Amino acid sequence: MINEKIKELMGQYSDELVELRRKFHSEPELSFEEVKTTQFVCDYLDQLGIAYRKTEPTGVIAEIKGGKPGETVALRGDMDALSVKQLNTHVPYASKIEGKMHACGHDTHTAMLMIAAKALNEVKEELAGNVRLLFQPAEEIAQGAKAMVEQGAMEGVDNVFGIHIWSQAPTHHISCTPGPSFAAADIFKVRFKGKGGHGAIPEDCVDAVMVASSFAMNVQAVVSRTIDPQSPAVLTIGKMEVGTRFNVIAENALLEGTVRTFHQDTRDHIENSITQFAESIATMYGATAEVEYIRGTQPVINDTESAQLVQQVATEAFGAEFLYDEKPTMGAEDFSFFLDKAPGCFALVGSGNPEKDTEWSHHHGNFDIDEDALATGAELYAQYAWAYLNK
Ligand code: NI
Repeated sequence: MINEKIKELMGQYSDELVELRRKFHSEPELSFEEVKTTQFVCDYLDQLGIAYRKTEPTGVIAEIKGGKPGETVALRGDMDALSVKQLNTHVPYASKIEGKMHACGHDTHTAMLMIAAKALNEVKEELAGNVRLLFQPAEEIAQGAKAMVEQGAMEGVDNVFGIHIWSQAPTHHISCTPGPSFAAADIFKVRFKGKGGHGAIPEDCVDAVMVASSFAMNVQAVVSRTIDPQSPAVLTIGKMEVGTRFNVIAENALLEGTVRTFHQDTRDHIENSITQFAESIATMYGATAEVEYIRGTQPVINDTESAQLVQQVATEAFGAEFLYDEKPTMGAEDFSFFLDKAPGCFALVGSGNPEKDTEWSHHHGNFDIDEDALATGAELYAQYAWAYLNK
């Protein structure tokens, strides 16, 4: 099933792959600011003779036309960095930009996708169909995939495949499990309005501190008492702003939080319940409530056939001993916007190695990867496209 020529090319390109990743790592750009990265990718595609177009404001859609007719498979690699201060500054490829860092490994995804493109371009005459390359901006704010889809990234695409490097798994280990993989992530904001006044005269006031606290304590019952325990859900209030000084009864409160779910009915239920709880609690105290619920990413649900193909390809390319099943995470991935348009799947490629100090969690200032994992990821991209088209 896998292509031997691609495997051989990956060996030849491995030094270039590391260089590319280091370049991106040292010059991180934040979401929708990936101007230099976008240009660098375009210049590289020009050299390879691969047709592309830029998306607005950043991002690239490219296409390798196969020599034989067939379907179109899309490969996605995201490109944005985070506003995280790099702590492991001793590495020669440390960020040159204060306060910005590739702390999630998207630098590796861009580099791996470029090298996969180079290898696929070498075997394009034998490809039965086309490979769409999606160099995606702004994953960290869950806006980039949506923007690319709106600009036609998925038109004519039959299947889509994405990879995330994963520091929590050992180097070379690959997980692509059918079914739920990343959760849907929503944002909610609740505003309570009471009646402010002197801290010594509560009888003339409606205390927003009481209302907000009561809501924060009670709304957790939505998860613990009203939904099916088999349907995972998290409701977190991460921010609460209330009051102005110690001897003034607060008039206003603002609470902000996130909801993570896998199933649509659970999601709908929690959205409705937040409003119900907010309004009921406000009424109880004589205050008013205003609820804003913003739907973010859809859950990433891996298509069974696609995930099985990844497992077959990984087994053949690297050996069954490198396959593992990562449990679904309540974290989010905006890859889900591509999955809305075509079946596909999302794989994790391990890069954790205690000897190289690369087991730090994603988004931490010490985050780094075992560069040996790069070739695994790049080859997985290319072999998946090959296997999908030539199956
Ligand atoms: Ni990430």
